[in-house]
Amino acid sequence: MEKLYRILYPMRVVLITSKYGKRENVMAAAWCFPISMDPPLFGVSVSRKRFSHELISKGKAFGINLVGKDMEKEALLAGRSSGKGKDKFVEFCINKEYGKLGIPLLKDSPASIECRLVKEIELGDHVLFVGEAVNVIKRREAKGLYHKGEDEFIEI
Ligand SMILES: Cc1cc2nc3c(=O)[nH]c(=O)nc-3n(C[C@H](O)[C@H](O)[C@H](O)COP(=O)(O)O)c2cc1C
Repeated sequence: MEKLYRILYPMRVVLITSKYGKRENVMAAAWCFPISMDPPLFGVSVSRKRFSHELISKGKAFGINLVGKDMEKEALLAGRSSGKGKDKFVEFCINKEYGKLGIPLLKDSPASIECRLVKEIELGDHVLFVGEAVNVIKRREAKGLYHKGEDEFIEI
């Protein structure tokens, strides 16, 4: 029962960026999806244990950064260690830039969506952050990276 959610896999992986005060962070997320077309809303389900949870909740914004096969290493690094005691951008040499909301976005990502937090819903052991897309940056065409489980990914 514990990993029943795996029935829906593979799931597309994105890198979620956030900022509060001087702290900036990036984490991998497979539970990120569109919710509404008008207004354009996206959701990401984040465990309360993540440092990103604190930054998104307090910073009121998050970035959705698409990743291709060429960013599998970054997805694993950002998805297997917490930014609580370190700066993952510096430690893992992940390049960032800034959009309209002042949150970091990934310079090497094929596309980034900047979202303003509009709702935070407590659901079981995760929190669903709902954000309205206020800015979309398309940098290049790329296939998506999908998580199959553990350290396994496929490109579609
Ligand atoms: C491929 C992959 C997908 C993940 N998806 C999610 C997710 O959707 N939600 C979540 O809370 N954690 C997810 N994680 C776990 C976080 O990315 C991981 O705990 C990370 O270290 C949190 O970083 P932070 O503490 O700096 O926020 C995923 C990890 C990987 C490797």
